[in-house]
Amino acid sequence: MGSSSPRAPLLLLFVALAALLSPPAPATASVAYDHRAVIIDGQRRILISGSIHYPRSVPEMWPDLIRKAKDGGLDVIQTYVFWNGHEPSQGQYYFEDRYDLVKFIKLVQEAGLYVNLRIGPYACAEWNFGGFPVWLKYVPGISFRTDNEPFKWAMQNFTQKIVWMMKSESLFQWQGGPIILSQIENEFGPLEWDQGDPAKAYSAWAAKMAVDLDTGVPWVMCKQDDAPDPVINTWNGFYGDWFSPNQPYKPTMWTEVWTGWFTGFGGPVPHRPVEDLAFAVAKFIQKGGSYFNYYMYHGGTNFGRTAGGPFIATSYDYDAPIDEFGLLRQPKWSHLKDLHKAIKLCEPALVSGDPIVTSLGNSQESHVYRSNSGECAAFLANYDTVSFVKVAFNGMHYNLPPWSISILPDCKTTIFNTARVGVQTTQMKMESVGEFSWVSYNDDTDTYADDSFTTVGLLEQVNVTRDNTDYLWYTTYVDIGQDEQFLQNGNYPVLTVLSAGHSLHVFINRQLSGTAYGSLEEPRLTYSGNAKLWAGSNTISILSVSVGLPNIGEHFETWNAGVLGPVTLNGLNEGRRDLTWQKWSYQIGLKGEALGLHSLSGSSSIEWGETSASQPLTWYKAFFNEPEGNLPLAIDMNSMGKGQVWINGQSIGRYWPGYKAFGTCGDCDYRGNYDETKCQTNCGGASQRWYHVPRSWLKPTGNMVVVLEEWGGDPTGISMVTRSTGRACADVSEWQPAMKNWHTKDYERSRIHLSCDPGQKMTAINFASFGTPNGECGSFSEGKCHSHESYDPFEKKCIGQQSCAVTIVPEVFGGDPCPGTMKRIAVEAVCE
Ligand code: GAL
Repeated sequence: MGSSSPRAPLLLLFVALAALLSPPAPATASVAYDHRAVIIDGQRRILISGSIHYPRSVPEMWPDLIRKAKDGGLDVIQTYVFWNGHEPSQGQYYFEDRYDLVKFIKLVQEAGLYVNLRIGPYACAEWNFGGFPVWLKYVPGISFRTDNEPFKWAMQNFTQKIVWMMKSESLFQWQGGPIILSQIENEFGPLEWDQGDPAKAYSAWAAKMAVDLDTGVPWVMCKQDDAPDPVINTWNGFYGDWFSPNQPYKPTMWTEVWTGWFTGFGGPVPHRPVEDLAFAVAKFIQKGGSYFNYYMYHGGTNFGRTAGGPFIATSYDYDAPIDEFGLLRQPKWSHLKDLHKAIKLCEPALVSGDPIVTSLGNSQESHVYRSNSGECAAFLANYDTVSFVKVAFNGMHYNLPPWSISILPDCKTTIFNTARVGVQTTQMKMESVGEFSWVSYNDDTDTYADDSFTTVGLLEQVNVTRDNTDYLWYTTYVDIGQDEQFLQNGNYPVLTVLSAGHSLHVFINRQLSGTAYGSLEEPRLTYSGNAKLWAGSNTISILSVSVGLPNIGEHFETWNAGVLGPVTLNGLNEGRRDLTWQKWSYQIGLKGEALGLHSLSGSSSIEWGETSASQPLTWYKAFFNEPEGNLPLAIDMNSMGKGQVWINGQSIGRYWPGYKAFGTCGDCDYRGNYDETKCQTNCGGASQRWYHVPRSWLKPTGNMVVVLEEWGGDPTGISMVTRSTGRACADVSEWQPAMKNWHTKDYERSRIHLSCDPGQKMTAINFASFGTPNGECGSFSEGKCHSHESYDPFEKKCIGQQSCAVTIVPEVFGGDPCPGTMKRIAVEAVCE
């Protein structure tokens, strides 16, 4: 149908332009708050939230992750907005694929959950540059996160863009959307403390700027004690029970309950026991908390060069309830699900007022909440880090394990204790499903390309590369006279290179002479090694490699990377020669990057050769078919040193199994205060061995994998692996608190539930003992008391099934093997 009036298209254009330029209609608030609760449509709620960062997985994974969050008992999904992903160059926006923010929020909405949108736009988050685009650093006169006009302009511009986008997509709660909360800035309070007035002015401006955007939902500022009304200040940390907001009419909110911690290359892998995590949450709720958010609920992957740091690993698994690959981490996920059920049962009493706190012993307390309509909910806490304690409460006795809290939604019945884990423990397995046959290409070990340039002295790396690549070549020449002593005696001079980070390789006359790298704690490094120089002209080439830009710290945007010197040669006839102020040639990136070898077209533009012995700076290429089935995939890089890997042109991320984890690993006791160094694994091994390969990046056949190896490694050791449940275990007491239906008060005797991943079945029962078994998953053994029919119910109900349940009553196991003794059932099933 044609338009009748020639002016109609013009008018439409005008309307469209006006919509872009003017803010959408003002909001009418439907999310409010008071001292005890966030109030949604008049309903006062205790909200359970979890962080899932959309670009840390692929859109094809989002629905399943969100469903698992919902099944786990969450009300809210929290995410940062990743500015540098959305505005890769100034004024050029990107909201597709992993950065399709609107799609992600709509999926959360479809699942019936709410969103807490942390616009920031500073994120921190172990994300490259804390989420700031690198071009922002080069805006004239800019200084980040302070009272600086260019910065404030850019921050407002982006924040407003996101708010308007959310409004025009009707995503705020009053518009029928899921967004109930937004965050401005991130943990600015501690910096404000150090920086004084300009920082104070900035945070006050940020709060006002945000409030003026009129989102119709409350704004929060985390770790910002002076957040001005109506902005709510919130807390982040491992524990949150000491925290109170800065006004009595604001709810107590914990925006980051750390479920584990991030991994750095060179560091061990942190784990947080779920007994302690559940204890921390219960302690926060018993004290009067109204909202808590697991950071992370699904950590995911730092694909490409999105990892911050420097030295943040590609895996951002975080020991979260949903693992990096999207599988449930057990017992974490299920134990927290049980905790959430218990909290929700207490909700009517919890939102009614403050608790009555009573001491029940030296380190024992009760917190009791009552509503006007008669509901009563109680929390019984034992803070003792060693002992079980029996406490008297309301005329009854309750047994409390050390460092635990029991939840009694009717002030009588314990339905949950934070330390009594009655759910499955899963041991995952990584199984090789194929190797590769490689061809290779050696990159240049020098800077001879046309785009190299020469200048006097040493340049800062990010200024030169603008972070478009990790790599920058620094090359200089050194003349060595015939009469140098070392040419006779073989005592080669020592080359010393001081670098601001993060790692480097030294090539002398095109031969790799040595490698050095910093660490998460100290990105700066000093290289020192003998330089095998010859008489005449020598080339010294230093390949400086960045490993993620910093994401945290005071004015981290000013931190340097690269070889800043001095660079010296010691042990010449003249003694010391300073090379710092010589002429240096620079080349940005590797030749293979310029050729686009990671892509199909780039990779077919060159001749690949047979793979020979391990060589530094080598590219490898292979083709493979997609492994059958639906299990998540990873690529095992353990035989390699350091580099990057791509599949079908998509960057899987940086790999660095050559960096062995340094630290203390060992026993992990949930009792007592947790910090990230307490329960670590991988010491002495690779910090990260497996790299997630999203299935959606694969085709059935003819997939191309490209590896760029800096150090030299053995590509024949690379394999594709599937991740799945290997063993499903449980160790449950016959008196584990449990219930089927609170409203009908239908308590059940404990049941043991076991499940494998979709597509798997239980094929064997490795162990089962009803009695007093010992050990843990993988090493169970019979105790003094053991029922000889322990295996029977599991063999009957579980073999051949994906999941099964067995009730823990003596009759099921052929009678009571030791009357009068408290019994448990321990079981280990094999999933295949
Ligand atoms: C917090 C920060 C998060 C994340 C976390 C550590 O302080 O707000 O963005 O960096 O630390 O994982």
